[in-house]
Amino acid sequence: MRKKIVAGNWKMNLTKEQALELTRELVDTLGDLTEHQRVMVCPPSIHLSSVAEVASESKALEVGGQNMHQAESGAYTGEISGAMLKSYGINSVLLGHSERRAYFQENNALLGEKVDAALAAGIEVIYCFGELLEERENETHFEVVSSQLKEALFHLEASQWKHIVLAYEPIWAIGTGRTASPEQAQEMHAHIRGVLADHYGQECADGVSILYGGSVKPDNAKEIFGKPDVDGGLIGGASLKKYDFMAIVAAM
Ligand code: PGA
Repeated sequence: MRKKIVAGNWKMNLTKEQALELTRELVDTLGDLTEHQRVMVCPPSIHLSSVAEVASESKALEVGGQNMHQAESGAYTGEISGAMLKSYGINSVLLGHSERRAYFQENNALLGEKVDAALAAGIEVIYCFGELLEERENETHFEVVSSQLKEALFHLEASQWKHIVLAYEPIWAIGTGRTASPEQAQEMHAHIRGVLADHYGQECADGVSILYGGSVKPDNAKEIFGKPDVDGGLIGGASLKKYDFMAIVAAM
């Protein structure tokens, strides 16, 4: 049975004190999860070590990175590697977030390299992808999403997919307050699982958790997460507020 996951993407928010306070509150309130549930926060890289230390007091709270470089090491000022993440006990990383694609020119080919580097370092990848408003309006959204999957991930062996989580995030829904309807999310998630099944077989496709991201809030999480192919969410703005994030975790 595939896992349900709620992951918070803090983006470039929170000072050290704020990050540790929020982590402490989550540790104190999270309680136990079932073996089919996971909860994660992805702080800015400078906070990873101290957030991971506080989070280690909870069996339930995982910590992931927001990005990493594709090279093992070297002259890449300002970047961090998979081995560095791993050395702080960080076992998951977001790759391909639409903000990385839009502001840092990350494309599917580069993301394929990053995925390989992460897996080689023993790090699970949460691969983010989704279409622009314009692409949905001109009805190319299924094609765009299929290409984002194929170009960055379809060189992987079926066995490597147990280390991949997908996060479908329509760009028009990120930080806009305009969320996809539960039906739109289900329709795209079913499409994604179908594309996976065509290439890797149904068993592999059925094992991959596909999260929805884009303006998930306490008042819409339950309905979105209730759809059969939606296996949880990647949460931006609402993950910065303890009560909102916990309510979304409860919706899982
Ligand atoms: P949002 O962000 O929840 O603030 O829309 C989601 C994301 O960017 O992962």
